[in-house]
Amino acid sequence: MEMFLKRWKNKSDSINIADKIADLKKLPVPDHVAIIMDGNGRWAKKRALPRIAGHHEGMKVVKKITKLASNLGIKTLTVYAFSTENWKRPQLEVDYLMKLPEEFLGTFLPELIEENVKVQMIGQKEAIPKHTLNAVEKAIRDTSENTGMILNFALNYGSRAEIMLAMKEVFKDIKNGIIDENQLDEQLFSNYLMTDGLPEPDLLIRTSGEIRLSNFMLWQLAYTELWFTDVYWPDFSEEHLLQAVFDFQKRSRRYGGV
Ligand code: FPP
Repeated sequence: MEMFLKRWKNKSDSINIADKIADLKKLPVPDHVAIIMDGNGRWAKKRALPRIAGHHEGMKVVKKITKLASNLGIKTLTVYAFSTENWKRPQLEVDYLMKLPEEFLGTFLPELIEENVKVQMIGQKEAIPKHTLNAVEKAIRDTSENTGMILNFALNYGSRAEIMLAMKEVFKDIKNGIIDENQLDEQLFSNYLMTDGLPEPDLLIRTSGEIRLSNFMLWQLAYTELWFTDVYWPDFSEEHLLQAVFDFQKRSRRYGGV
């Protein structure tokens, strides 16, 4: 452990990525990493580019980070691609964001399959345009047998909406005698969330200097380690993810105990 810390602290730039990965794997890596990919618009503005150029660059970063996360042995990577609040953006931007999953999966799906990555999604499907949903559902189908990392897209996702929907389903099941009110506990309730079957995130990363959760996985993040950086998402590099995991490994998680 001592050796490990010393190497990183003093010579971080001189160590290559493969060595860092090998080093990080000596300690437990987070099973589930969730990312709020923020700052695409500001990244573009700084370069006098349209906001959508930032989103396009951001999409390329998702590819890079997916591969690295998979190599690191992270079991689930959740990326916040579109929130229930993002519909308020100009139509042009919304349309562009809804085209990105097609472009991403159109070019990247073969590689995801090769990497044994399994695509999933959380979010309300109803409002998502057909062409977007078709692309995501095809990727989910084509990777359903894969046994490697889960790449979980949060698309038209909002945590409060998720919790409300879960509550309604719980009430329905109680009314229909499928579950008993006395059976209801945190574990059973979490089975009604869109993340059913996934572990809770161990590490949440948010880029761009904003220090808030923005209605993202509020239930699931109860004990998650939070990691923030000022870097805009399109500038988020492999080194940043490695640093986040490195910092995670130094934290002591007590879950309310001592
Ligand atoms: C927040 O930045 C980012 C989003 C709302 C979209 C995130 C989408 C991507 C990174 C593209 C990836 C998509 C796929 C399908 C792989 P912002 O626009 O709020 O930035 P700002 O706060 O600087 O304006």
